[in-house]
This record gives sequence, C-alpha cells and structure tokens, in this order.
Amino acid sequence: MPHARPTGNVQYDNTGRIVIVSGGCSGIGLAICQAFAEAKAAGVVCLDVDESASDNLPDGVTFYRCDTSDEEQCRAAITWSVERFGALDILVNNAAIQPKESYVPLHELSTEVWDRLVAINFSGYTFLAKYALQQMRQQQSGVIVNIASGQGHRTAREVGTYGPIKAGNIMQARQWAIEYAREGIRVVSVSPGAINTPLVQATLSKQGGEAVIANRHPVGRLGRPEEVASAVLWLASPDASFITGTDLEVDGGLGAFAAFATPYPMRETE
Ligand SMILES: NC(=O)c1ccc[n+]([C@@H]2O[C@H](COP(=O)([O-])OP(=O)(O)OC[C@H]3O[C@@H](n4cnc5c(N)ncnc54)[C@H](O)[C@@H]3O)[C@@H](O)[C@H]2O)c1
Repeated sequence: MPHARPTGNVQYDNTGRIVIVSGGCSGIGLAICQAFAEAKAAGVVCLDVDESASDNLPDGVTFYRCDTSDEEQCRAAITWSVERFGALDILVNNAAIQPKESYVPLHELSTEVWDRLVAINFSGYTFLAKYALQQMRQQQSGVIVNIASGQGHRTAREVGTYGPIKAGNIMQARQWAIEYAREGIRVVSVSPGAINTPLVQATLSKQGGEAVIANRHPVGRLGRPEEVASAVLWLASPDASFITGTDLEVDGGLGAFAAFATPYPMRETE
C-alpha cells in the first residue's frame, strides 16, 4: 500500500500567543512582527531603539522603546509587556548590528566597535532572555528564538567580529535549551543567509555587491525577510514541540556549498 500523504496545510498555530520581538522596526524583525500579527497572536510587542520607524509597524504590533544593550531597559520592557498582556509565550531575540566599521581585520578593530557589537548582538540577547525566562518559568511554558547567522557557522575575511558573536547566539540557545527543557521551555536559533534588509544593503559594497552575494547562494538570490519569519513562526509553534537546542539555517543552500571545491555558479549558463 502506498505511503499515505498528509492532507491539508500545516498551520503554524500561534493563535492567542503573546510575543516579544527585539529589533522589530526593520528587516527580518519587522517581517516577524507582521507574521505573528497575521497569525492572530494576541499581543506582539516590538522592542527597538528606532522610534521614528515605529510608525511603519503593522496593525496589531505595539512599540516599546528599548535599547537591548542596557540590562535595566530589557528588564523594564519585559515587565511592561507582561503587565500589559498578562503572559509571555515567545521571545525573538533579533536586534543586532553589523556596521561597516566592523568589516576589518582584528588588528584594525576599534574597541568602541567591538564593545557595541558585544553589547547589542550578544549581551542584549542574554538580558532579554534572562527576564523572559523568569516569566516563562512561572508559566512552565515558552519559546525563545535567537536570530543568529550563517556567519556564526562559517566565516569569511573581515567578519571576525560579527561572526564569533553570532556563533555565540547559537551557543546561547543550546545552553538555555538544556537548562530549561524540563520546565516546558524551548530555545532554538535560526541562522539566515544573506537576506535583503537595510542591514545587508548597507554593507553589500563591502562584500562585492548584490549580484556577487546572490550568486554565492545556490538558489541564486538573496532571501526575503518573510522567508526567515515563516521559519520562526514554525519553530515557535506547537508544530515544533520536539525541537529544542537546535539551529535552523535559512540560507538558500549557502551552508551546503563548499567554496573551496568549485566556484559558484558551477556552470556558465547559471
Ligand atoms: N540581513 C541578513 O542578511 C542577516 C543575515 C544573517 C543574520 N541576520 C541577523 O538578523 C537580525 C536582523 O537583521 P536585519 O538585517 O533585519 O537588520 P536591520 O538593520 O534591518 O534591523 C535591525 C533592527 O534592530 C534595531 N536595533 C539596533 N540596535 C538596537 C538596540 N540596541 N536595541 C534595540 N533595537 C536595536 C534597529 O533599529 C533595527 O530596527 C540580526 O540579528 C542580524 O544579525 C541578518
């Protein structure tokens, strides 16, 4: 007898959830906010420093100003959100920077740039998770998704500051996953390839331009923010209930490609 095929669409059911997304005013974070709002989450809170961009947030998303590099602001943001919505089901740690000044070999790196990257891209994830976990432990449920990066898995010249910190986001997720698994809390990370966002547009010239970067991805294009958002929605939903401590690469095949073997594209016609 042939294997029965599943029927109907899988619904990444996040109905009624209370969600916090850091860095939700732009790019991937904005797409994640929008996707949760469309999935009928009961509350979506966008934490960001960019108040001017908060006007662009879709209906159903609430803005709260928070500089995630500041522990006290993270504590206040989580407290405010829990008081307003009564629970916290999902935290998406997404706010991060990759300024042009970080594209340097180590001997040229300024301490100021290093400190900013560590403070936002690494400490910020820890601070928000620390206070989110206090609420999730009371509920004995919750999901944390760290947005990491393909550059946390494998590297290139001049990303020696951003890359190791993004690898740290993957390890944060693994660590928190094993610590809180018995309390009904799951923690995962997502590692995007190059996604067409303001962050990437600002640094494309440093990486050889859009066509070069698109071509390095076997699918031949940059990713769209919504393609990362749908992975986050699935991982956060009960459909992914046995998944914790893992990393999902959303990268158009970039991570599967060994650049040392053959240049990409492999055939001229591509
Ligand atoms: N775009 C990509 O190709 C790509 C690839 C791999 C990983 N990522 C990761 O995805 C995430 C989002 O990247 P993006 O491309 O959407 O970036 P983006 O620059 O478009 O958006 C980042 C958002 O974070 C906010 N932010 C910055 N510093 C903050 C702070 N201290 N506190 C609160 N908010 C702050 C910004 O105001 C902005 O709204 C980051 O973690 C990034 O490292 C992006």
